[in-house]
Amino acid sequence: MVERGTAGAPVRIGIVTVSDRASRGVYEDRGGPAIRDYLAEVLTSPWEPCARVVEDEVEQIAAALRELCDEEGCCLVVTTGGTGPAARDVTPEATLAVSEKEMPGFGELMRQVSLLAVPTAILSRQTAGIRGSSLIVNLPGQPKAIGECLDAVFPAIPYCVDLIGGPYLTTNEERIKAFRPKSARKPGG
Ligand code: MTE
Repeated sequence: MVERGTAGAPVRIGIVTVSDRASRGVYEDRGGPAIRDYLAEVLTSPWEPCARVVEDEVEQIAAALRELCDEEGCCLVVTTGGTGPAARDVTPEATLAVSEKEMPGFGELMRQVSLLAVPTAILSRQTAGIRGSSLIVNLPGQPKAIGECLDAVFPAIPYCVDLIGGPYLTTNEERIKAFRPKSARKPGG
């Protein structure tokens, strides 16, 4: 078990690729590395990725989410894939199964923004949830959806993480300006 918030230690962020084919090595995982590249571009606080690739099975996805939140101490876990309507698309079910609270605004905003780019955005059931001090956010499997969706919701992520008792995340403001109300305190402030 990793101690959360150890002074000076990088914040851990979980990245879960949900794909039968990527998990069996039939094709290369492109979504997970795209999320890692996005976070590297946007976050200025020290962080490290904890990446997992799992099959489209509720129990496998839920087990990875529990492990990343509870054992690895990730304050944020981003999933990619498995949000559509097909029989094997079960990432939102696994997310809700391990979350104490759903955060529906994340999915609503991502779909709204995505619809401007692709009409098939309506097919994604992507959502978000809170498990303890961790925020879990679903993204569709298309690598190009990752930037489209994260650009929409990332401004809300640092303050959401503050509110659940997570670390104080900072961003490259030229890229993403995190929203925090004026009353929000900086650590030690
Ligand atoms: N959202 C964005 N921003 N960009 C996309 O290309 N693809 C859509 C949708 N959301 C897409 C998107 C498609 S084609 C599908 S089927 C659903 O997400 C679900 O994708 P998933 O099952 O890979 O998660």
